[in-house]
Amino acid sequence: MNILIAGGNGFIGSHTYISLRERFPEAQLVIVDNLVNSTHKTLESLRKMTGENILFYEIDLCDEQALAALFRGYQFDGVIHFAGYKAVGESVVNPLKYYTNNLNSTLHLVKYCLEYDVNKFVFSSSATVYGDGVSPLMESDALLPASNPYGQTKAMCEQILIDTARANPEFSVALLRYFNPVGAHESGLIGEAANGMPNNLMPYIAKVAKGELPILNIFGGDYPTEDGTGIRDYIHVMDLAEGHAAALERLSSGVCIYNLGSSKGTSVLQLVKAFEEVNGVKVPYQIVERRPGDLAIIYADASKAEKELNWKAKRTIKEMCQDAWRFEKHDVLI
Ligand code: UD1
Repeated sequence: MNILIAGGNGFIGSHTYISLRERFPEAQLVIVDNLVNSTHKTLESLRKMTGENILFYEIDLCDEQALAALFRGYQFDGVIHFAGYKAVGESVVNPLKYYTNNLNSTLHLVKYCLEYDVNKFVFSSSATVYGDGVSPLMESDALLPASNPYGQTKAMCEQILIDTARANPEFSVALLRYFNPVGAHESGLIGEAANGMPNNLMPYIAKVAKGELPILNIFGGDYPTEDGTGIRDYIHVMDLAEGHAAALERLSSGVCIYNLGSSKGTSVLQLVKAFEEVNGVKVPYQIVERRPGDLAIIYADASKAEKELNWKAKRTIKEMCQDAWRFEKHDVLI
């Protein structure tokens, strides 16, 4: 089996490489990535972790010629598509960058899948497509407008894939809606490489714990939650990675949609406290104004994935904090 991992050098893609290797020991795994948000260091770590040469092509999915050559060179059996810009704030400031890149890369991949009879497609979607829907969120819930262009690109790509599968019955699609992926591989060799200032909570906490940033700003202490801070569904990136391998294995026809989350809500303050306790470090924080666009409570009902994929998020908040910290510290050493 030949599997193309588009954006396979990024945070979730690199962890998924490890899960795919475990589930499909004989498969040929091919990474394409334009390295816009990752480096060769991750490839080197993957090589160390697996003991194998990584098949890697530095290709931008917007470069159709390069992509066509890749599809000609390999008869892929499946594609997992992670490639895309993902910074919510930047997408508000520069929407065209997001629409151009995230839509074109998906359109090109789908086009060559159809042209070369590649019939399994797994897409990296997001819980952001539920907009301000009421948690626990289920796959059957209505999609509501996302609060930013990044989220809109996820919803639009979902629609492109659904329409393509409808028109091409042999083309099957899994749309995986991630909740909040955090943590790192247990080895500490791969994780969420922060490019400049982190946007998301866990990498920010880790940078503050390390002393690289002075203080964590907690956005809002007056939400209608137990401690007043926002509630999210954090999922360990290795659990998420295993969800992709399970989805690819089960994919047979039509469109399948799965929430990949833990089905549990954790507040910002609970996460900060867990991080401090588990790792024996201090994370100075202050409560500030709410961040525009944030919602109070978002968590999944992930029972569909459990039933149909035989997959469940197993790792605890404690493991997420430990692994995120191990990766952050490891980064200093190399
Ligand atoms: C955001 C995106 C989501 C994307 C995810 C990537 C939206 C609305 N959300 O989710 O699509 O998949 O990132 O992981 O598009 N917080 C602080 N201080 C900080 C940073 C965050 O208090 O410095 C709080 C936030 O207010 C929120 C929680 O921590 O309550 C999680 O925030 P974050 O990690 O940024 O993820 P989301 O906004 O939930």
